[in-house]
Amino acid sequence: MKTKILNVLRKSDGYVSGQALCNMLGVSRTAVWKVINQLKEEGYVIEAVQNKGYHITQYPDILTSSEIMSQLTCVDTGSTTGIIREVVYYDETDSTNNEAKRAAERDNAADGTLYITESQTGGRGRRGRNWVSPAGSGIWMSLLLRPDISPVNASMLTIVAAMAVQEAIHKVLTEDGHVAECRIKWPNDIVLNKKKVCGILTEMSAEMDYIHYVVIGINVNTTEFDDSIKATASSLYLETGDHLKRSRIVAAFSESFAKYYDTFVKTQNLAGLKEDYNSMLVNKGGEVSVRGLYGYV
Ligand code: BTN
Repeated sequence: MKTKILNVLRKSDGYVSGQALCNMLGVSRTAVWKVINQLKEEGYVIEAVQNKGYHITQYPDILTSSEIMSQLTCVDTGSTTGIIREVVYYDETDSTNNEAKRAAERDNAADGTLYITESQTGGRGRRGRNWVSPAGSGIWMSLLLRPDISPVNASMLTIVAAMAVQEAIHKVLTEDGHVAECRIKWPNDIVLNKKKVCGILTEMSAEMDYIHYVVIGINVNTTEFDDSIKATASSLYLETGDHLKRSRIVAAFSESFAKYYDTFVKTQNLAGLKEDYNSMLVNKGGEVSVRGLYGYV
């Protein structure tokens, strides 16, 4: 119910009356009022005007399920767009990749579940690196997928994820009037003004010809860096001076990922994505050939 109320208020330009919310949801005024109070406690600034209703004037920078899913839901049909079907949010956890793997094994969690947290105590990067993941700044998330593809092709999902992150950041930056160039540095680093603002860690559980699950762990917007990457890493805030709402990037990622994933799964190679991928590269026209991607594992 919280997601639905947030969805309706978010997508309406003006005020929405309490009665209209009751009718839409088939619940009492008290139930609506309770949800409005919960939202206020979470940091939403909601104006309530007699005879007019409710209107959100400020959104908090939080990553809860309601905050993300309310951006991906169609008010009229209630259906969602994008790859994310469900969000599991933690205030803190060891690693969202671990959460996704545990859920995949323990609960048979569904394809398209996103595990996201405010902070990680044991975040992992590639090559066994520690991934510093404090609260309040970054996006630490892992997407659980159960693709019907051959395990040898699964690592290409890292490229699909990189394309989706690039497009998502580009969209949000453009909407907010920023001109900073967000690109992919071959093969899958996302760079803004040539500095890395995102890392991707893909992990898989599979048998010879069958994938149990793939977990794609993504960080965006790191602000504290491990010594090994300090010189080349940055954040959206450091590069733009603007605190972009993290949930907007997650929502945009969900929509972009679904589009590229669909193309990839159909062919199980990157041929259908080659043109888009090339246009996102920072080193376009340089020495790297996209042909190398087909063998990228
Ligand atoms: C890299 O080394 O560039 C990849 C970093 C990936 C970090 C993300 S944060 C969310 C997910 N959980 C983890 O423990 N790691 C990934």
